[in-house]
Amino acid sequence: MYNINWNKSVIENNLTGKLIGHKVYYFPKTGSTNDEAYQLGSVGAPEGTAVIADSQTKGKGRLQRVWHSPPGSNIYTSIILRPNCKPDQAPQISIAAGVAVAEIINEYCPRHVQLKWPNDVLLNKKKVCGILAQMKTSSNRIDFVVLGIGINVNIGYNQLPPDIRTIATSLAIETGREISRMELIIGLYENLAKWYKQLMQRGFSAIKEKWLNLAPMISQNVQVMFHNEVISGKALGLDDDGSLIILTVNNETVKVSAGDATILKES
Ligand code: BTN
Repeated sequence: MYNINWNKSVIENNLTGKLIGHKVYYFPKTGSTNDEAYQLGSVGAPEGTAVIADSQTKGKGRLQRVWHSPPGSNIYTSIILRPNCKPDQAPQISIAAGVAVAEIINEYCPRHVQLKWPNDVLLNKKKVCGILAQMKTSSNRIDFVVLGIGINVNIGYNQLPPDIRTIATSLAIETGREISRMELIIGLYENLAKWYKQLMQRGFSAIKEKWLNLAPMISQNVQVMFHNEVISGKALGLDDDGSLIILTVNNETVKVSAGDATILKES
């Protein structure tokens, strides 16, 4: 199924499940697929509706960063979900998505995939995927969640912006071969549906366990930076609200809900 160009009908028609990706909106170029999906969600688009763009002019990353989104090489997709849960459980959806992406990427590059809190997917210790979830709430209920996923698929080393070359990678860089984005996105939507169903029907515990198994920072000394604040200590685990639990040098247990985490020293 190798295909340079996107073909939304091929995606819609080749899915085995109907939960995610049954309806795809495709844009050769857009500002941000998250913004497109948010618009669609606001006018009632059903759960599982997906937006795909070949390129983004205003790709959004976490913490107001830019997500590099050139054409012809990567996956930029946003999915509308309408979970029956409270807003404070929404981070569990991003964590489940990280697990789903890690599992599908592991099929292309076995045993080299890791997760980094909050939900970066790493390949050979470099970032290959980022996830940005946004939500609309009303009366302490989730109206919808937009789950935005960017995967570096076929981008080459020299096409990565120089400032991220030491910390980012792509599937093609790591495997040495070109990957079909269509095949990958079909697998991604099916795997996302599997883990989303698991979360909705059976709760967070299996997802948390799988996440912890793939996250090398647990039990290590870490540093989390958020704006100008720095928290250091031993990463003890993941809380049910998606925050990282840290035991600080002052023997205090704190929960961190946002930031950039790095392992200080592997022991
Ligand atoms: C991160 O900073 O790690 C999150 C990056 C999320 C990027 C994806 S690409 C598809 C979707 N549209 C966006 O504008 N952002 C997300």
